[in-house]
Amino acid sequence: MKFLVGLILGLAIIPAGLYFYFSTGSAPVATSAQAMPFEKRLAKMALDARVKKEAPGDAALPVNDANLVAGAQVYQQQCAVCHGLPGQQITAIAKGMFPKPPQLFHGKGVTDDPPGETYWKAANGIRLTGMPAFKSSLSDTELWQVSLLLANADKLPAAAQAALGGATQKQANEKTASPGSHPPDSHHKK
Ligand code: HEC
Repeated sequence: MKFLVGLILGLAIIPAGLYFYFSTGSAPVATSAQAMPFEKRLAKMALDARVKKEAPGDAALPVNDANLVAGAQVYQQQCAVCHGLPGQQITAIAKGMFPKPPQLFHGKGVTDDPPGETYWKAANGIRLTGMPAFKSSLSDTELWQVSLLLANADKLPAAAQAALGGATQKQANEKTASPGSHPPDSHHKK
């Protein structure tokens, strides 16, 4: 009997604690606040598991200049405000979001993810993060084009770079190029 009462009290204390946490305004609700305990890990676990289950394996389109240029145009119009452009400052919108949209042309971006994973995220969005679902506004072709662009963001042909705003990319490269090195985009021409 004692054991049962203890068990029931023990079980009740968890939901009661959670209720207290949320009802007293202790949980962070502002975008400018810190993450909740375990928020990042749980959200990432749930997202990864779902993407693994549902993301298509093979890209429906080939990686070529035409698809990468078209992907760059989609990116410019629909993604850049949050995910940034090569050589440009993070926007005020991106800066103020929680969680922050990763800057996909800084560092490795999502070049280490299969394009099918990016396709799933762009099509379906990521709930409670500000990442929109684009499947009702972009065609399947456009979704694949922008996914291929991001999977190849570290090795884009000059035409796709130009479609992203070639001048800025060039300036950025010039800024980082050491004196006497090759012209900025010479290493992209194979
Ligand atoms: C309104 C802002 C916003 C726009 C516009 C937006 N995103 Fe996002 N996106 C986000 C946020 C915020 C995240 C981070 C979600 C998270 O932390 O789980 C994200 C995450 C992603 C990720 C996952 C990145 C990773 O590291 O796994 C991909 C891929 C992505 N977005 C692609 C796109 C594409 C493609 C477009 C345009 C078609 C786009 N996003 C437009 C806000 C945006």
